[in-house]
Amino acid sequence: MASNKQQLLDRIAAQIVADKVTPELAASATQLVFGIGNPDADIVFIGEAPGKNEDLKGKPFVGASGKFLDEMLASVALVRDDIYITNIVKYRPPNNRDPLPAEKKAFLPYLQAQLEVIAPKVLVTLGRHSSNCFLPDLQISKDHGQPKRIRLAFHADPSQVLEVVILPLYHPAAALYNGGMRQTLMDDFSQIPHILQKITSK
Ligand code: URA
Repeated sequence: MASNKQQLLDRIAAQIVADKVTPELAASATQLVFGIGNPDADIVFIGEAPGKNEDLKGKPFVGASGKFLDEMLASVALVRDDIYITNIVKYRPPNNRDPLPAEKKAFLPYLQAQLEVIAPKVLVTLGRHSSNCFLPDLQISKDHGQPKRIRLAFHADPSQVLEVVILPLYHPAAALYNGGMRQTLMDDFSQIPHILQKITSK
């Protein structure tokens, strides 16, 4: 049976469609790519936007970047069922162009709602688009791999706060064919068990 959290997540996905968020992207995309994984996860991975494979399958990170992500997860003894994974922008931008600022802004309330339901302890942001959503001054080339603690106020009730550690990482696509960056990303990734252990043992 679907968990209560999953039902709430399904409702947010339906709301995106009902609210006609980014109608141009919705019209050119095959479908909404909302997010997938364990709604009770302590750790949520946030990418940029679906690519071609994700658009066709309706799931995030199922192409080449996803394969590399799976390898990195395995290197820290995690599988997809341990995590939840989503993107900031939930429709594929045409020809995989970068998401526009207005598109990122349009999806932000829904990403926030997703995080309020899951209530993770750690957010791993993949690439600068996703990292800058939470840390606007971040420079990915300088700040990657440096965990930061932030407080996200709940949208409907700002007195309620989600405290999370953000780990900004390079995007797996940027590192796929660049040996040096690939190693850097794997090194940064290797901190995840330590961060999780520290935060969940409190
Ligand atoms: N790149 C992303 O940022 N997200 C995906 O889902 C796939 C590739």
